Amino acid sequence: MIVNSDRRNLILAFDVYGTLFQIKIPDIPEHIMNEWRQKQLEFTWRLALMEKWLDFDEVTKIAFKYICEKNNLNFNDSILEEWLMLKPFDDVSELKSLCESYDLFILSNGTYKSIQALLKNSNILDLFKKIYSVEEVRTYKPSPKVYKDFMNKHGNSYLISSNAWDLAGAKNVGMKAIYLNRYNIPLDTLSQKPDYIVNNLKDIVRLKLT
Ligand code: 2OP
Repeated sequence: MIVNSDRRNLILAFDVYGTLFQIKIPDIPEHIMNEWRQKQLEFTWRLALMEKWLDFDEVTKIAFKYICEKNNLNFNDSILEEWLMLKPFDDVSELKSLCESYDLFILSNGTYKSIQALLKNSNILDLFKKIYSVEEVRTYKPSPKVYKDFMNKHGNSYLISSNAWDLAGAKNVGMKAIYLNRYNIPLDTLSQKPDYIVNNLKDIVRLKLT
């Protein structure tokens, strides 16, 4: 989906959940959110390995249903509307400066529909030149298919993510990557290191990326 296209610069491709947006919903305890997120990711990895496809909205819903059942909570569909209203991290305001020097893209597991709603609700949709969803290849990160397809279509780019496994997927196929270490979690030792590690989007404004 092309949002805004008039220039061509180096691309910064942003992960969405946990990177630009906080995975928090009022009234849902943190441990339930964490279990939900973990199950959601597990489902995407399993689907990718099994070469099956269900979109991220569907995965999000069945993961939540399962976590409710496991914790004896009532499943309520309306919670999924709140998933579209997640709040951005404060430093997302730095995207304005970044888009003066780079082309900002989204590179996410999320569906176009949901990502567009999130960006719109936070008034940042116009800062992005393109939303790339894994819907284009119908599999999930960190499958090499996703990052390869992205680079084939768009060329030289950096993935920016707070999910270490996501950066590992990018580096695995030679895509450049920046770890936005929001949660103070060290990188694991299985994968190649990202090109840069920062703690805040402001730090990226200072980097001279090529
Ligand atoms: C994303 O936005 C899963 O956080 C991940 O693609």
